[in-house]
Amino acid sequence: MEYETQYAEAILPHVEHVLEMEEIQALIEHPKHDGQGDLAFPCFVLARHFRTSPKEIAECLADSIHSPLFEQVVADGPYVNGFLNKAAVSGQLLQRIQQEKSHYGTQTWGEGKTITLDFSSPNIAKPFSMGHLRSTVIGNAMANIVEKCGYTPVKINHVGDWGTQFGKLMVAYMRWGSEEQVQRNTIKKLLDLYVLFHEKAEAEPHLEEEARQWFRKLEQGEEEAARLWRWFRYESLQEFSKIYDLLGIAFDTYQGEAFYNDQMKGMAQLIQEKGLLETSEGAEVVDLSEHQLPACLIRKSDGATLYATRDLAAAIYRHQQYGFDQSYYIVGDEQRLHFQQLFLVLEKMGYDWAKGMVHIPFGFILQNGKKMSTRKGKVILLEEVIQEAIDLAQRSIEEKNPELGPKEETARMVGVGAIIFHDLKHERQHNIEFQLENMLRFEGTTGPYIQYTHARACSILRKAGYQPSSVEQGLTDAPSWNVIKKLAAFPSVIERSYHQSEPSVLAKYLIHLSQSFNKYYGQVRIQTEDEELTARLALVHAVAIVL
Ligand code: ARG
Repeated sequence: MEYETQYAEAILPHVEHVLEMEEIQALIEHPKHDGQGDLAFPCFVLARHFRTSPKEIAECLADSIHSPLFEQVVADGPYVNGFLNKAAVSGQLLQRIQQEKSHYGTQTWGEGKTITLDFSSPNIAKPFSMGHLRSTVIGNAMANIVEKCGYTPVKINHVGDWGTQFGKLMVAYMRWGSEEQVQRNTIKKLLDLYVLFHEKAEAEPHLEEEARQWFRKLEQGEEEAARLWRWFRYESLQEFSKIYDLLGIAFDTYQGEAFYNDQMKGMAQLIQEKGLLETSEGAEVVDLSEHQLPACLIRKSDGATLYATRDLAAAIYRHQQYGFDQSYYIVGDEQRLHFQQLFLVLEKMGYDWAKGMVHIPFGFILQNGKKMSTRKGKVILLEEVIQEAIDLAQRSIEEKNPELGPKEETARMVGVGAIIFHDLKHERQHNIEFQLENMLRFEGTTGPYIQYTHARACSILRKAGYQPSSVEQGLTDAPSWNVIKKLAAFPSVIERSYHQSEPSVLAKYLIHLSQSFNKYYGQVRIQTEDEELTARLALVHAVAIVL
């Protein structure tokens, strides 16, 4: 239980006829100055009710509150300040973290409920962009966060595996490609072919028509077109999964846009049956003017269905398949309108569950203040970026720490961790600057700094031959208390990052925890044989667990 709750419980019996438990909890503050204790309860509301001064109420309350958790409860002007009993609180907390280990901070309110998360979702034959990297990293962090809150996450990679680009690709492949090249370096090669197609088509416009024909063949299920599509898709997914392995991310399903092909007719029909389908300039749309939004395009005049149609089908399918409580889409801000339209159409169709759908947008990745480009010739391949980070990490290890254990494995963890953490520590709606050297620093607010802190904690435990045992005694000195307070906040940090869909809340917390631990390490001699040794080591252990 959180200390705020316990403080509120101690206050409740004295104000029961006036305030409810939740109201008390909402009023509790955290004083800024150490001398004012750990928790403060302001008495203004009560004063209004009793028509006396808040100061008088505070004095009266302070005298009546008795709780073993607090060593002192004193009136300070209009506030009742509670000073936690450091020894008792820290002892209990360290004992608890030691017992719960990685379950510490786990919440229960999501139990029995499912959240689907649609993230990463790159397009085949188009670049795996920096935007896809952000979606991948933020999406996976959100999956971990909701799981920590008790939900069952379903991680969905809604691959962009359908569309006119496949017609272009087929034409380019048959004219200028080779099987062996594609197999060796699929994403790069398909991308080259795609770019080449656009270059050539400028001078030879008939190529565009040819591409349209090939896409039509694909839509009609023609054998050669279907075979090529399957092959491009297979090889691309093989290569995407190398990136995901590197990042340590796994999906529950890769059912992408093409998966919904056979549901497209039925989808348009269903919308029509509900009386929502209108014709506009030859196309079929759902009008959203009452929401001041452009109409949602369901079927083009040539009969082709669209991105939105597939997403409608996908949402309905996912609800049937997983019975989700919430459904997240971790997709860049530029698709805001698309998701607004999608959710509104589902609501108009009468699906109550559409209320659980959430677009979780994020900003751009910039380089030198400019959007990292994926246009012709300037394509940035994610795998190369990750590899560069790993190489830089390896170089820095060789310079600074040549004796370090398995160097390659460590370089991989540091390089990848740096990229992931750099993304997560920024509020997701902000644009972020991508600068590998900065992300890889071992000091400052970086992933490697947190990894380094964790490694330091583990090495202290190793050298001490530490074995977890029961913590009889708490810690009361200032540097320890600083760490303890942060450790105690972890469950509420998980809660906040869930409610705000904001991994940065957690990332920033980890930086602060690391900083206070490193300060502790600088000020306290951990390995001194005295009666607090067990508690000190338990603290180091608790930090390692939470990090
Ligand atoms: N493939 C899309 C893109 O790269 C992202 C898909 C996001 N998910 C969805 N269900 N629309 O822009």
